[in-house]
Amino acid sequence: MKKPQVTPIEKEVKLKEEDFIVSKTDTKSKILYGNKIFIDISGYTEEELLGKPHNILRHPDMPRCAFKILYEHIQNGKEWFGYVKNLRKDGGYYWVFANISPTFDNNGNIIEYYSVRRKPRDGFKMIIEPLYQNLKSIEASEGMEGGLRAVEELLNKKGMEFNELMIKIQKGIIDEL
Ligand SMILES: Cc1cc2nc3c(=O)[nH]c(=O)nc-3n(C[C@H](O)[C@H](O)[C@H](O)COP(=O)(O)O)c2cc1C
Repeated sequence: MKKPQVTPIEKEVKLKEEDFIVSKTDTKSKILYGNKIFIDISGYTEEELLGKPHNILRHPDMPRCAFKILYEHIQNGKEWFGYVKNLRKDGGYYWVFANISPTFDNNGNIIEYYSVRRKPRDGFKMIIEPLYQNLKSIEASEGMEGGLRAVEELLNKKGMEFNELMIKIQKGIIDEL
């Protein structure tokens, strides 16, 4: 089925401190499971989500390179941490701090992916929104490769791996880039 056409609007839904949003996909990123809050916050019904590609929630403000880096991690058996702006069915959005990880069969093959998400820490937007806006504008002129190069330069400057940088932002250890 085709991805629904949703026009983004300036309406933010904020997670609560205790919210814990879970979904599971197959190796092609089709949604196999979502907990109640995953379904409720998306604005879709469970039937509308199950079996659909996870990009049903993709917000146009997200730079493409963010997802490229995500897949470079999880397809290589590693977990990934990062901030994601998600698009609701009604056009509104919600920000999450996500941890996505692969699960393996007994032979070490990747069989599924899990994502668990929590409320981003207060103040994260001051850091992440300008970063994503900058990456989007680089991608507009130089393509995703330009975005990836910019992230690489940032990580070199900070002397950190991607996940380490994201976790330190979420913990409040880093408050500027
Ligand atoms: C377990 C799992 C959870 C995901 N969760 C989200 C999500 O909440 N929002 C999102 O935009 N993409 C999520 N993705 C990534 C999407 O599958 C997709 O790569 C992304 O939305 C970019 O879509 P596009 O390639 O069509 O631009 C997830 C992927 C996996 C494997």
